[in-house]
Amino acid sequence: MIPDSCLHIRGLSDDRIRSFLSLAVSIKRDPEKYSQTLKGKTVLQFFVENSTRTRMSFEAATRKLGGTSVVFAAATSSLQKGESLLDTIQTLCQYGIDGIVMRHSSGGSPEFVAGAVSVPVINAGDGQHEHPTQALLDAFTLLEHWKLEGAPKNSLNGKTVAIVGDILHSRVARSNVHLLARLGARVILCAPQTLLPSDLSLFPAVEIEHRLDSAIPQADAIMALRIQFERQDDSLIPSKREYRHFWGLTPERMAIMKNDAVVLHPGPMNRGLEIDPEVADSSRSLILKQVENGVWVRAAILAMLVGGVKP
Ligand code: CP
Repeated sequence: MIPDSCLHIRGLSDDRIRSFLSLAVSIKRDPEKYSQTLKGKTVLQFFVENSTRTRMSFEAATRKLGGTSVVFAAATSSLQKGESLLDTIQTLCQYGIDGIVMRHSSGGSPEFVAGAVSVPVINAGDGQHEHPTQALLDAFTLLEHWKLEGAPKNSLNGKTVAIVGDILHSRVARSNVHLLARLGARVILCAPQTLLPSDLSLFPAVEIEHRLDSAIPQADAIMALRIQFERQDDSLIPSKREYRHFWGLTPERMAIMKNDAVVLHPGPMNRGLEIDPEVADSSRSLILKQVENGVWVRAAILAMLVGGVKP
């Protein structure tokens, strides 16, 4: 039997999504109650692409649940000698692993690994495909901020979220469009044509706005995305200066937000490009709250999939 995994938002049932979010609330309220959930369990942190937030929060979450992390050092591993992904994973599984948290630059690789191992696999970001745990922590942060964790259960009905920037290369956007729509939010994608996928047929119903100044006043939350220079050359934007002028979250744009609108960014940020420091560090910013909540949401996912906690 293939173990229960968290590979992409589309693969999670509505019940499973709500269970992750509800359990995250419980763990955040009373971490001590869950402090032995992963006692005797070992989680492999298998990051073959750089990460600060996701990796550190999965390690912190494992620790808070009483488990042990084994951290794979990709840069000094035999992957560098040409060992295959599957041989590497199957080798590591012989050391007694109860779950795998995996980041990889190839879209679909966590699903490939999940089909070959006997432990749960959690996708911590695969190429330009998905970043499901980021979307879950983003939703958790919005639900918490708007005090919507109660009935109707974990719903974003009536809220509009604008996702702004480099949507083309963003796994965060791909996971968020699916999750936000599933939770009932209206989703606006706002980007230059060159940074939008040419085929949106796999996306749920989203609206497209090409002018940020039109999108901002409609939104209850604005999620800025990092321009991913490592996945492109400079040719998709006219220049950094013009990008900031047309697409940057500046203090002037903060002034046209709804009075109670909030700002998110998955990080890492290009300060002064897609978001100015005056916005990122303002009272409207939930960016550090996203980071904090990443631990609780990832703890909930580990508790259910690796620790066997029932919702
Ligand atoms: N948001 C996010 O995935 O950040 P890291 O790349 O630092 O993990």
